[in-house]
Amino acid sequence: MEGSPQNTLPITMRRSVKAAQVRRELLPHQSSELLQELHLLTRNGDLNADALRKLKQVNHLVQLVQPALDDIWSRFGEPVVVDAASGNAYFGFVLYELFYKPVQKGRLYSIESRPELATRASERAQRLGFDRMEFQSATLEGATFPPRIHFMIALHACDTATDDALLAAIAHQSDYIAVVPCCQAEVAEQLKKVGKGDSALAALYQHPWHRREFGSHLTNVIRVLALESLGYQVTVTELTGWERQQLSALLGATGVNPKLTRKLQLGN
Ligand SMILES: C[S@@+](CC[C@H](N)C(=O)[O-])C[C@H]1O[C@@H](n2cnc3c(N)ncnc32)[C@H](O)[C@@H]1O
Repeated sequence: MEGSPQNTLPITMRRSVKAAQVRRELLPHQSSELLQELHLLTRNGDLNADALRKLKQVNHLVQLVQPALDDIWSRFGEPVVVDAASGNAYFGFVLYELFYKPVQKGRLYSIESRPELATRASERAQRLGFDRMEFQSATLEGATFPPRIHFMIALHACDTATDDALLAAIAHQSDYIAVVPCCQAEVAEQLKKVGKGDSALAALYQHPWHRREFGSHLTNVIRVLALESLGYQVTVTELTGWERQQLSALLGATGVNPKLTRKLQLGN
């Protein structure tokens, strides 16, 4: 589609980019004015190291999810994307510029628990004229979601917030889901309580660091199994060089079995 990013930018860690070179870092149809508004550019128009890393992350992710976005844009008159635990909503703003602006359709919902971030992002959207972006300051547990979601995305949603995003995606029959999980404490805490009951297995999570890693791994495996049991096809992809962890995992899921979804809703 028009406005879709075409090139592939590997995530490499460079220190900063001078104003004259910034364009090279942008996807087709991505504007430096947006980066300015997002405060990713310095006063001189340079990209400092942190901003560059953020931009590369977001652009890399946009490229990974582009086939899913192209699909929902081609199939639905009013494609609905939810950015769960959106923070400053960088991803949403970039998505809006590349996908929503050129075709004048669709809505993008950003849900963020910190009111000051939601307010700032909402004001920014108004300044930019991104009028099909909606902001809600709420926890994902308590948020009001649109009745039908076509794409649910959650980037580094803290701990079980990723699970809240997955639940909402399932309940609202999201065609696509992409989550990049964040720190994971819930299962590690449960493993701690289990203690050393089964000595052979306990060796896997005896030490705090292993417990955290193993707990995180188990959590993601459970998420994948839960999605698959509901008819989603899941791919798990490594994202290297992301800021939160050296290695992040992208869980991408497509397709839902509506019968099972209804069953799940009835069971609540
Ligand atoms: C690490 S930041 C990621 C922000 C953004 N998605 C990004 O990738 O730049 C996590 C965000 O999730 C928000 N958050 C944490 N728990 C949440 C919850 N249960 N519901 C909604 N937002 C939550 C935090 O306030 C924070 O802004």
